[in-house]
Amino acid sequence: MAWLTAILCATLLFLLLLLWLQPSTKGLPPGPKGLPLVGNLFDLLRYNPIEYFTLLSKEYGPIFSIQFGLRRVVVITSRHWMQQAFVRHADTFTNRPHGTVMHFIGGGKGVVMTEGQAWRDSRRLLTLVLKEFGVGSSKIEDYIGLELPEFIETLKKEVGKPIEIHPDLATSVLNIVWHMFAGERFKTGDPFLKWMVTSIERTANLINQGSFLNFVPLVQFIGTFLRPRAFQVLFSLVYRMMYFNGVIRQHRKQLDDPTKNMDLVFAFLREQKKIEEAHQAPGIFTDSQLRWLLSDLFVAGLDTSVSAMRWALLFIVKHPRVADKLRDEILQVVGHDRKPCLSDRETMPYMEAFISETLRYSVVVPIITHAPSHDANLGPYIIPAGTMVITNLHGALHDPNVWENPSEFRPERFLTPEGKFFKDENLVPFSIGRRSCVGESLARAEIFLFLTTILHTFELKPGVDPLPPLSYVDGLFLHPQPYKIILELQQPRHRPREPEKA
Ligand code: HEM
Repeated sequence: MAWLTAILCATLLFLLLLLWLQPSTKGLPPGPKGLPLVGNLFDLLRYNPIEYFTLLSKEYGPIFSIQFGLRRVVVITSRHWMQQAFVRHADTFTNRPHGTVMHFIGGGKGVVMTEGQAWRDSRRLLTLVLKEFGVGSSKIEDYIGLELPEFIETLKKEVGKPIEIHPDLATSVLNIVWHMFAGERFKTGDPFLKWMVTSIERTANLINQGSFLNFVPLVQFIGTFLRPRAFQVLFSLVYRMMYFNGVIRQHRKQLDDPTKNMDLVFAFLREQKKIEEAHQAPGIFTDSQLRWLLSDLFVAGLDTSVSAMRWALLFIVKHPRVADKLRDEILQVVGHDRKPCLSDRETMPYMEAFISETLRYSVVVPIITHAPSHDANLGPYIIPAGTMVITNLHGALHDPNVWENPSEFRPERFLTPEGKFFKDENLVPFSIGRRSCVGESLARAEIFLFLTTILHTFELKPGVDPLPPLSYVDGLFLHPQPYKIILELQQPRHRPREPEKA
């Protein structure tokens, strides 16, 4: 009898403990309760997070809460609630959730995962340096323009063959950021550049937010670090950091050399020197912070733009009528006697609409996470400090209440009946508010110049039959399914056809 009482007491205690451990839902947006301890985690075995969040938003609306283990998480799936949180409460929603793999790998340094003063200082420096390079003005063309001719010449050698354009594209895009941030340029095809691209892409794959394990506290670490490539990725991260160390050392030696061009490392080290000379506390200006800043920029700035361009090229070969319209516009605006330039953007409404639709459809960065720095009132809800706030950008950019037939690829949705391009405020692939993408202008300039130059030089045809469907490969960044294209040199005879009759 005594053992029966002991079992009953233990069960009762266990149930009480479960109740005590259940996170409070008081004041939070509505959402499924889930099971004790595990919450709604098992649902993520059936659906991927993007599908799951989208499904729940149909039931609970564009803001809801959900339980991952013992953590109650808020999910936002609309521009309206992003505006409420990231713009109206801009000062509050600038932190990142703790206890995640991203936070662990980022080491709380750099820019993507930092908070408070360190984040503000890093972001300010970065914005200043990007401005100095001409990001946001036509000066940026000088950097992108250095890569394009070599990239096009490399592609010309592949004319007529089915090729995967991804590796050449990635090395060229990496060279642009590398040049801006570390002051070096590599030759296309350089083995170090290729290694760097693979190493950065693997890091992004390892920190895979698309995988359900990444939402499970603690288990996410096992899920991440027990992956077959985890050690390879960590090893290359260490090697990358050592390489950055060498770059920093080299820059420090040349700090007073007036003939050296500005780059991010010089800007950072000059600031560091000023602070040292004034005997002030270093703040963010330490070598370790600089290494993480570089690492962040390469991860955030490479795979994203490259993936967007890979999607764009797939849409072009999948939709020959769209390709015709793009080519006609390029021919009309640029002609054959010069190369496309950034100022052409103003007179290329169809290309602008095409890029907008590419960014909407592909949602290269599908899920982002924030955390309020203190308890925040969001409409009728109270979001406690530190709560993980997930934004399902994919859901917001494919919401049928906002976008007509969202799974249809239709650049015309960004054109007025007169054919003018208009900016739709619901298009938020770079997020909004103080933490929105710092590289948006650079990414937009890269995408425009690469696409127009490729289409100005080549005609694109499918390199595989059939081409893959327009579904994404899961990951931190969403990629299209792998595909091949065939490039043919554009014939100078090609003339724009008459505009289609309405
Ligand atoms: C198509 C290309 C790109 C897309 C769709 C994209 C999208 C995004 C998104 C959605 C965020 C998260 C914003 C938030 O948390 O609210 C972000 C952050 C960031 N992006 Fe981009 N990005 C792109 C290209 C770039 C490039 C080229 C760079 C490099 C210069 C870059 C650097 C960053 C950085 C540093 C952050 C972190 C900002 C912070 O935490 O304050 N991105 N990006």
